[in-house]
Amino acid sequence: MSQKTIFLIGFMGVGKTTLGKKLAKALGVDFIDTDDELEKQLGCSISTYFSKYGEEDFRIKEREWIANYVSKPQVVATGGGMPCFFDNMEQLNQKGITIYLERPAKELFQRLINAKQQRPLVKVLEADELLQFIQTKLDERAPFYKQAKYVLGREDQTIDKILLTLDA
Ligand code: S3P
Repeated sequence: MSQKTIFLIGFMGVGKTTLGKKLAKALGVDFIDTDDELEKQLGCSISTYFSKYGEEDFRIKEREWIANYVSKPQVVATGGGMPCFFDNMEQLNQKGITIYLERPAKELFQRLINAKQQRPLVKVLEADELLQFIQTKLDERAPFYKQAKYVLGREDQTIDKILLTLDA
């Protein structure tokens, strides 16, 4: 495989971590998740960090993480907001191969409704508010996500298809 990092990007709940672990295994490389890395560094959960210091501060930590990141052959699942602040998307594109896992808001909603508890931006939202939030945020974030080298729809979000895409 390429010596470069593969960054999986996309909205919360799209499946970056699940797919990323499988992809790393198929490629025989390590897998990391920026949320886990930041939690180790910050010494608390992202949820706790948000409530203590606020989102802005968290975005600065994410920014520092990507600025200091040295590319190596591994798969990295990025936090859903990381590509959408500062020049992070540019950094990700410089340091590796970016893959955007694209899904419509309604599908993200189905996936997130049962997995919102550990996610500070959505954990307090009721179902109807959650759908609205996803629609608004996705519109805001799509222009960043779409700067990825590869934009994959649902049909292409399989290990086989990704391996073919990377070889191409
Ligand atoms: C966020 C997504 C989360 C995490 C934080 C903020 C976002 O990561 O970084 O809760 O702004 O979309 P996941 O995409 O892994 O849930």
